[in-house]
Amino acid sequence: MGSGSECKSLLQAFYYDEVDGIKKFGFEAIFRFLLSPRYQAAVLLRWQRIFYLRSNKYLGKKGKINAHVRNINYFLSQLVHRINFTFNGGIDVSPLAQIGRYLFITSPAGITFGGTCVISEHLIIHQGVNIGERNGKFPTIGNNVHVYSGAHVLGDVNVGDNSMIGAMTLVIKDVDPGTVVAGIPAKTIRVITDKG
Ligand SMILES: CC(C)(COP(=O)(O)OP(=O)(O)OC[C@H]1O[C@@H](n2cnc3c(N)ncnc32)[C@H](O)[C@@H]1OP(=O)(O)O)[C@@H](O)C(=O)NCCC(=O)NCCS
Repeated sequence: MGSGSECKSLLQAFYYDEVDGIKKFGFEAIFRFLLSPRYQAAVLLRWQRIFYLRSNKYLGKKGKINAHVRNINYFLSQLVHRINFTFNGGIDVSPLAQIGRYLFITSPAGITFGGTCVISEHLIIHQGVNIGERNGKFPTIGNNVHVYSGAHVLGDVNVGDNSMIGAMTLVIKDVDPGTVVAGIPAKTIRVITDKG
């Protein structure tokens, strides 16, 4: 996915979440938004993947030019990864992770999206979260999921749509759609209703 729709979706998220006092969408909102590590982290991880996939397209192709294109794209992917990691709070994302639109990173500090994890749309994620490997497998996260700080979601698990994962929770089994889970290991603590 390009950064155009990422920009639009994050702009919406950022505007509603943070830009209090600005009644109308305007320059100040854009200015604050562009300076935000939240925005930068979410856009840079897209570019990291784009360069990585471009480099992979040239794998196995012979010839000097193909090797140069492959290496330059690989280098750019690594460069973007390091810039994101260093300047946006230690966010470490695998270029193979498939991340859907409307990702909203509240605090890009110590967040990992590992290996081939799959993230659908509208994920809200807080600091210190690990979406990572267990027994060589990676999670699939549904739409409209909210993962609170310090949670670990590991291995071949499906996190259902509209669910919430509490702070410091360890998820190693599937999470039912529309539920709140918490604890180590995660247990359902309530079902989400229309009232929240
Ligand atoms: C998971 C969460 C959203 C649930 O909120 P809630 O639905 O209002 O639930 P409650 O606070 O009423 O707690 C219900 C029960 O679950 C337990 N519980 C809640 N969150 C828990 C957690 N993260 N880990 C373990 N147990 C938890 C409570 O102790 C309570 O147990 P009890 O009934 O035996 O007393 C919330 O507790 C949470 O973890 N929020 C994260 C906040 C956060 O990360 N803030 C930083 C953001 S920057």
